[in-house]
Amino acid sequence: MSATAEAPPMRIIGHPQPRIEGRLKVTGAAHYAADHHLPGMLYAVPVGATIAKGTIAAIDARVAEQMPGVRAVLRRGSFPALAAAKPDFASVADLEGTVYVDERRPPFDDDTVRYYGQYVALAVADTLEQAKAAADAVRVTYRAEAPEVDPALTAGEMTVKSERGDPDAAFAAAPVTVDQRYGMATETHNPIELHATIAAWEGDSLTVHEATQGVVNHRNVLAAMFGIPREKVQVISRYLGSGFGGKLFPWTHSPLAAAASRQLGRPVKLVLSRPMMFHAVGQRPAITQRIRLGAERDGRLTSLRHDYVNATSLLDDYEENCGEATPHMYATPNLRVASGLAKRSIGTPTSMRGPGAVPGLYALESAMDELAIALDMDPVALRLKNEPPLDQGLGLPFSSRHFQECLTLGAERFGWARRDRRIGSMARDGLTLGWGMAACSWLAERFPCSARVELRADGTARVAAAVQDIGTGTYTIMAQMVAEALAIPLSRVEVALGDTSLPAGPVSGGSMMSASLVAPIQAAITRAGEALVALAAGNPAAPFAGAKAGALRFAEGRVAAAEGNRQAVPFDQLLRALGQEAVSGLGRAEGTFPPKEKPTHSKHSFGAHFVEVTWQPELARLRVSRVVSVIDAGRILNPLAARNQIEGSIVMGVGMALFEETDYDPRSGAPVNASLADYVVATNADAPAMEVHFIEYPDTHLNALGARGVGEIGLAGTAAAIMNAVYHATGIRVRDLPVKLEQLL
Ligand code: MOS
Repeated sequence: MSATAEAPPMRIIGHPQPRIEGRLKVTGAAHYAADHHLPGMLYAVPVGATIAKGTIAAIDARVAEQMPGVRAVLRRGSFPALAAAKPDFASVADLEGTVYVDERRPPFDDDTVRYYGQYVALAVADTLEQAKAAADAVRVTYRAEAPEVDPALTAGEMTVKSERGDPDAAFAAAPVTVDQRYGMATETHNPIELHATIAAWEGDSLTVHEATQGVVNHRNVLAAMFGIPREKVQVISRYLGSGFGGKLFPWTHSPLAAAASRQLGRPVKLVLSRPMMFHAVGQRPAITQRIRLGAERDGRLTSLRHDYVNATSLLDDYEENCGEATPHMYATPNLRVASGLAKRSIGTPTSMRGPGAVPGLYALESAMDELAIALDMDPVALRLKNEPPLDQGLGLPFSSRHFQECLTLGAERFGWARRDRRIGSMARDGLTLGWGMAACSWLAERFPCSARVELRADGTARVAAAVQDIGTGTYTIMAQMVAEALAIPLSRVEVALGDTSLPAGPVSGGSMMSASLVAPIQAAITRAGEALVALAAGNPAAPFAGAKAGALRFAEGRVAAAEGNRQAVPFDQLLRALGQEAVSGLGRAEGTFPPKEKPTHSKHSFGAHFVEVTWQPELARLRVSRVVSVIDAGRILNPLAARNQIEGSIVMGVGMALFEETDYDPRSGAPVNASLADYVVATNADAPAMEVHFIEYPDTHLNALGARGVGEIGLAGTAAAIMNAVYHATGIRVRDLPVKLEQLL
């Protein structure tokens, strides 16, 4: 197939394209970080602390060191101390200069233990089995202290995050009020792909295959820790078995593997075990939230207070930004959002899908349901009543907000009008039905990003950027953008990503990657077109001989004379005529997050979830049976990938509401259910029937295609909608997630 001037314009953006790398993944040809095997590679297994607080008294590795195949048992002092990376969250807005870690302390930095599983030694051997056996044989003695494990989260001080009017006076004066606390258990990221590092030094250069959502940031952190120039470090992450935020920022196993490799002069592979995934690689911390709502009898909100406290580690102040969506969700003249931290003997928490707004909206949307009941008002009508004219928190207009349409369309598709508001009044096939709903929102921003696009004489194009595809479809989206702009089939676009040797890109986080890629890819294509036009204008033998560069234009992959009716020539044909293999262009665009200057608009996506649960009291059997979600996320670039994202989030919401909980032993501070057998995640069997609708209003404030990005928003509000449905079925309001069946009996 060739792209000719007569071919109809491609319509690739906005069409459901299966993942272009799907075949590589299902045939095993896609190599994930841990799949890399290097000549002479050694295997490393960390030794984790078995206390959650105290100091290391002694490490006895004499037996381990004598075991077959063992090359070393590394511990503090075994290699030159690593520097702390001086993390700066604002630096994630700096394309080449981002340096961020959640756990700041370099591995083996001191003899203090702050959480269970903290690495205290590293066994390195010829085989994985030998390294594992050696790690098990290392004897560590501790001076243990009582760990901070109090599940009741109280903060020393609260920080006001957003405030307007006088929420206390308005609450006191409100005729109808809600004042409730909502708790959420610690959730641990359990992507199927384990964290993995393969580190290899060649002279003073370090190459790392890493399961990471951010190769450039990872490179910069390693360079800072080892005190070497960034150019000396290459980080590669071509495929990711997801991360859910757990792989956004580097964890201590990665510099540890690199240090071991440097020390032993051999490549080193370090793959965490599933139990280790619960220790030193982050989690969504336990959170307690208090929501106070005051309303007029007609449902108008007069006061909203949102206080939240999350657990954080003894080492780092990780804040779960639960109030992110609260100031802009509903109209109210009086509001205060405040946050606090509770220091606990746990590993440093990190972003988990929809950090902040997801737990925040669980609390807010549960409280809104309680308010609707207190008002004897339909919960959809209550939300419609409180539509704000602008983002009252920022005092800015919304770039695009169609929340009311999400509510009304969702209600229509779900059949909400047939809902009987009385508790336990609805039934089907002998099952009690509960119908509930909740709203969602998620920020829409862009990171800075660059990309290179090459146009080739064989009719193909290559797009390259040091971004990642964390399983969400970035390969495909990049190919779509290029194929659409050049009017060539998708199959003619090669995509290279996940490698710091490519033009710098941001972390894959915040559902921002697609939006971040639009401008740099377009700019790169424009630059490549300019290069092609310059070549054509300067070549007397080729088409357009004698034309001035200014008289030629490049569009849809073709060069044409701006005047006259000379036929447009496709780039490949022109390159062949010019005797050129390829031309390329580099594009770059600044981001919007974190904002460097005051924004002009509040940029958020919105949506509504409608949920049906079935309840069998005689069996204590609760299932989420049906979900209808309507999402307002701007233009949808790939409806297939976008729907997958929302469906995956909904299933994760089932996990949040019904199953997911990391249990810490109050004596040892150890996560006791650190396995996929004991930490229950929602499976296919738990997935409801799902119907996802996108209402597509292109939001060109964010990028030329009008895409806001989609992913995390599907998890926002889902647990609230489920628990609101559970209340409707049972009359029992559960305010601590996940729900325990005994709470419903
Ligand atoms: Mo997502 S928690 O921003 O990787």
